[in-house]
Parts: sequence; structure tokens; C-alpha cells
Amino acid sequence: MSMSSPSPPPPTPTGGIKELDAILSTLSPELDKHEVYIFHTDPDASYGDHAKLRPVATCQEREGLTFVVPLSVLMECGSDDVGIDPAQQPHMRRITLGVHSSLEAVGLTAAVSTLLAKHEISANMIAGHHHDHLFVPANDAERAVELLIQFAEESRAATRKENDCHGESDEDAETWEGLMPLHVEKIVDHSNPIFTLPFKIGSKQISIEQDIEARRRPAFDTATAGDDVEVGGDLTEHDSRTGAVLWDGAVVAASLLERCSTDSTQKFRDQLDPRGKVVAELGCGCSAVPGQVAATLGAMRVSLTDLNCIVDADILRRNIDRNGLSDDVELFPHKWGGPIPAELSDVQLILAADCIYDLSLVEPLLSSISNIMVAAKANGNICVALVTFDTSIGRHKAYAMFEQEAHARFESVEFLEGDDISREHLATDSVKAYILSGLKFRD
Ligand SMILES: C[S@@+](CC[C@H](N)C(=O)[O-])C[C@H]1O[C@@H](n2cnc3c(N)ncnc32)[C@H](O)[C@@H]1O
Repeated sequence: MSMSSPSPPPPTPTGGIKELDAILSTLSPELDKHEVYIFHTDPDASYGDHAKLRPVATCQEREGLTFVVPLSVLMECGSDDVGIDPAQQPHMRRITLGVHSSLEAVGLTAAVSTLLAKHEISANMIAGHHHDHLFVPANDAERAVELLIQFAEESRAATRKENDCHGESDEDAETWEGLMPLHVEKIVDHSNPIFTLPFKIGSKQISIEQDIEARRRPAFDTATAGDDVEVGGDLTEHDSRTGAVLWDGAVVAASLLERCSTDSTQKFRDQLDPRGKVVAELGCGCSAVPGQVAATLGAMRVSLTDLNCIVDADILRRNIDRNGLSDDVELFPHKWGGPIPAELSDVQLILAADCIYDLSLVEPLLSSISNIMVAAKANGNICVALVTFDTSIGRHKAYAMFEQEAHARFESVEFLEGDDISREHLATDSVKAYILSGLKFRD
């Protein structure tokens, strides 16, 4: 008699982009400017040892356990204690490729290491589930980033040429080009638990705590997800990781609000000055920076909204307390596309920072914005929405879809550019900002 063994479970889809051309054109290399890394092998160690060194990667080899250790942590722990002499080890810097590449993508490591090898830069690549991380000699790091950016630009030009041959119009190509990252300077450091806004609100300095550990947790933890979650459904909705840290679009939005309330020459002042207005932030995350800034500037009422998993998070309350705003803001769960809570029926200014990153969420988000505007109109209010997002994270299809849908839904879609958005202390031009107003139709 033969017994059939149970068939193995199907492989877990890894997500991310698989096509090499698409990966290469949106590499978005991001240099970790604040840390140097040391590779160290301990022949006697096994996984879990030396945890206090907080390695960003480990590899078990025949020769022992190799750790990739931040130099600052090593110095904190006392390098003698752990038997590593940092002077004897090559100092490496980390470049993270911002594109979300699939684990099943073919050819990325070869393309990147060949490019850097041509310029005599050694590249040690480690693949995370979402991103690839290059460790290069510290002295070559800036040059490596420049080469990677240039490489991405060339790949984009090549793809455009190919698209032309396949009948895609110049207009399409230009739209996409406009959405590509111009450079990859980041405002917010996701490795630092505390972020302080690089500008003041009057005499007040706003700062927030980021949940760096939560951001690093695996995408979805069924053990802690709760009973209401249908595994296999839309996991994005139950994933609190993206809201655990602050995103650049939120800082740019906050800066625009501040400028519109203090600078009488600011072009979009009427629409964006939050003083005396009823304000709602959608997808506020655990930091809710634009909403907190609106409250500090003197908004009449501020509602901060997000999914339950964020609204219930202690860190959001701590961040509001931290800035002394507990009496000035209200928290409401609101899932995009769902019913609009009564509290959001008289909103005049909607804020949505870095909420455009997933194709499936564009439509529900715009639907919430539309429905809040409808409710506002019924109550005799004019309502506008400020939507910002950071294109350097490489979700270009979602950005393109947002542009298209926004023009279909709203009479006015104003794109803020140049001096209207950029400021010296915000060293980024990858964040895009739009003001939406004048609804064409409701859902
Ligand atoms: C990239 S984070 C941006 C957080 C914050 N606005 C910032 O810029 O720092 C996106 C936020 O959208 C929220 N979000 C995702 N899907 C949502 C949905 N369907 N309804 C409401 N919020 C959602 C996430 O929970 C997360 O807080």
C-alpha cells in the first residue's frame, strides 16, 4: 500500500517588482549617511549571540557567524569587550535601493555589481524581503550613489525609447518622467527614533517618536492580527508598519501649512492656511505631523484619522502628548472608502500625506476625500484637500493613477512646484504636492 504524503504548501508570493527594466529605472539609491558598518566573523558564535551589537544582518557560514554591525553600536558596547578592533576592519557604508524588488527578480545583483566593478568599487549586496542593501567601502559611497542614479536615468531613457517603439505617446512618457525621483535626499531618517521638525511653529518645536521596531516587523503577523482579519484578504489594511514612522510627504505638508499661515505672499495661502479652519488628516500614521502642525498654528478643530490599528496605538497618543496637543486634536478611525463619520461632516481642509503608495488604495482614498467634500458642501463649507507624497519610494504606477483619477474627479488639481514647495531646510524635490478642489461627482 502506498501512502501519499500531503502536498507541500504553495510558495508564498514575495510581492515587489520582478521585471529587471522596471527595477533598474527606479533604483532610488538611499545612502545611510549616519552610520558606518563593520563585517565581523566570530568562529564560535551561533545565531542570537552578540545581540547587543544589534547587527543589521548575520550569516551563518562554515567558518562561524558573520555579523554586519553598526560602528556606533560597537563603540557603545566597547569594541574590546566583543573582541573586534574597528581599525582593522574595512569601514563600509550602506546604500539601500529604494525600489521594492521581488525576491524572485532576476539580474539585479549582477547589474549593480557589474556597474560598480567597472568603476573599481566593491559591492556586497544583501537582499531583504523588500529592498536590496549594498555595502560599499565608506570612501566610495557617495560616488557609488551617483553612479547608481545615473544608471537609473539611463535605464529610464532606454525604456522610454522602447515604449516609443511600442506606440506609447510622448505625453505618457513625459507624465511618467515628471513623477520620477529627481534625487534621493531624505528628510526623515527612519533609523532615528526621534524626529524634530527642521522648522519652528512660532516658538514651538514639534518632535515625534517613530516606532522603528514596528516598521521592521514582518509584513503581517497573523498571531497578533485579531479575529476580524480574514487572512488572504487585503492585508494592506491591517498592516500598521507603514504608519509606524514619519514620511517625507508629511514634513513637506506641515511646512506648507506653516508657510501659508505666516507668509502673506504665499500663493496658496487661502486654501492652505489652517488657522480657524476645521481640519481632518487622513492616514495620519503614528506621527500625525501635518495635523499636529495645523492644531499648533490655530486650526479651529483637528481630527486625526487612520485605521483602527493606528488610531489605537499608544505611540500616537504619546506623540500628541509630547507636543502638548491632547486637548486640541481628536482621533477617529476612518477606513478610506468607508462611511464618513459625523465628526468629519464640516471639514474645510483635508490633509493626506504619503497615502499614495498602493494602487488598490488610490480609489478609496479619493472616494473619502470626495465624500468629505460633499458633506462639507451640504453644510455650507468649501473644502480643499492637500495631498503630498514622496516619489523616491518608487510607486510610480500609483502616482500616475492618482493624477489620472484626481483630474477625473476634481475641477481643480493644482500641482505645487518650485518655490511654492521647496525650502532650504527641506532638502528634497522628490515630494510632490497637489491641492484638490471643486468636486465633479460624488461616489
Ligand atoms: C505611508 S503611511 C503615511 C503616514 C503619515 N501620513 C506620514 O506621512 O507619516 C500611510 C498611512 O495610511 C494608512 N492607511 C493605509 N490604508 C488605509 C486605509 N484603507 N484607510 C485608512 N488609512 C489607511 C496607514 O495605516 C498609514 O498610517
